[in-house]
Amino acid sequence: MTAPTLDGLLGSAGVLVCCGSGGVGKTTTAAALGLEAARLGRRAVVVTIDPAKRLADALGVPGGLSNDPVQLPADGPGELWALMLDTATTFDGLVRANAADTEQAERILANRFYHNVAGSLSGTQEYMAAERLHALHADERFDLVIVDTPPTRNALDFLDAPGTLAKFINHPLFRLLMMPTRRGLRVLNVATQPILRTIGKVVGGDVLADAVAFFQAFSGMETGFRQRADEVIELLQSDTTRFVLVASPRADTIEEARFFAARLQGSDLSVSAVVVNRCTPQFGDPPTRRPRNADAALLYDNLREMRATARAERVHAAALLADPALPVDVHTTFVPTLPGDVHTMDALLQIRGLLFDTPA
Ligand SMILES: Nc1ncnc2c1ncn2[C@@H]1O[C@H](COP(=O)(O)OP(=O)(O)OP(=O)(O)O)[C@@H](O)[C@H]1O
Ligand SMILES: [Mg+2]
Repeated sequence: MTAPTLDGLLGSAGVLVCCGSGGVGKTTTAAALGLEAARLGRRAVVVTIDPAKRLADALGVPGGLSNDPVQLPADGPGELWALMLDTATTFDGLVRANAADTEQAERILANRFYHNVAGSLSGTQEYMAAERLHALHADERFDLVIVDTPPTRNALDFLDAPGTLAKFINHPLFRLLMMPTRRGLRVLNVATQPILRTIGKVVGGDVLADAVAFFQAFSGMETGFRQRADEVIELLQSDTTRFVLVASPRADTIEEARFFAARLQGSDLSVSAVVVNRCTPQFGDPPTRRPRNADAALLYDNLREMRATARAERVHAAALLADPALPVDVHTTFVPTLPGDVHTMDALLQIRGLLFDTPA
């Protein structure tokens, strides 16, 4: 089976994840993929974590993106939507959607542990990204979810988030905290539980009491959370979820890209296509001799220098493509550096043209 092209992926994938190290062009690529998907007739939603207002402007959302999908202007029979992931708002929405009644929801939303701690617990952000992916994938309005990832090495931790949550919910301590209300016993008293007394000494009695209240308020909702976590794991491992690795052709960023490829491989996933962005543009051959005219000589020197840079970039990119963590014949697209940043629709359409050979 030959490796799919970017076109092929846009036609067949249900989820496309753009990953790579900081500043290589993940958000730009995600936006350009979204535009092309709409051109091809798909109903695509781009989930970005990037608050870059200028990109929002370029996409035609003057007020910036919000946590809810907004439809953007796009050419073609499809649709393009975009949203900016906001962890706290997503968590609130989940609580409201999954609580048995508004009273339970309000109890959780008013809880101090929920406010002060839950959002900043390590993994919450990743977990909310996974929950969001789940919801958007199930949303009838869209048939393709394009995920832009943040500029950290941990960006792919959301792959593990559902599994981590499932483990957490099955944790004996969690079960202990949940039990009293589930069995209809007396409300758990922190002071009478030796293990909780010990924990309370470490984290502080108030924090613990808030946490216990939080988990008790949460009671009954964990089944839904566990079920969705399982479904997200299934979704991430399915054939319709594909990973696009974005890199730029410099030694350090190629090293990072290889880290991401290995990270995916470590989760039994793989890169489906590579975009090498911000390549030095290729011009024609310089004349065989250096011209005598000073201006012409300067141009000649520049051209030679750029060619040398381009050659070095090819060597760096080749190291990435030869990495055993990548499929042998993985489809690769080289995108040159544009003269300015990609902060207008015109520039974005130009990037799309370079990615897909469609007229800009
Ligand atoms: N081919 C290109 N030519 C010129 N500028 C580009 C190109 N691709 C991206 N840029 C610019 O480079 C900057 C970084 O791009 P982008 O925000 O897409 O990267 P990112 O990987 O999402 O960054 P971060 O990791 O910070 O989220 C932006 O200002 C963008 O406009
Ligand atoms: Mg970005």
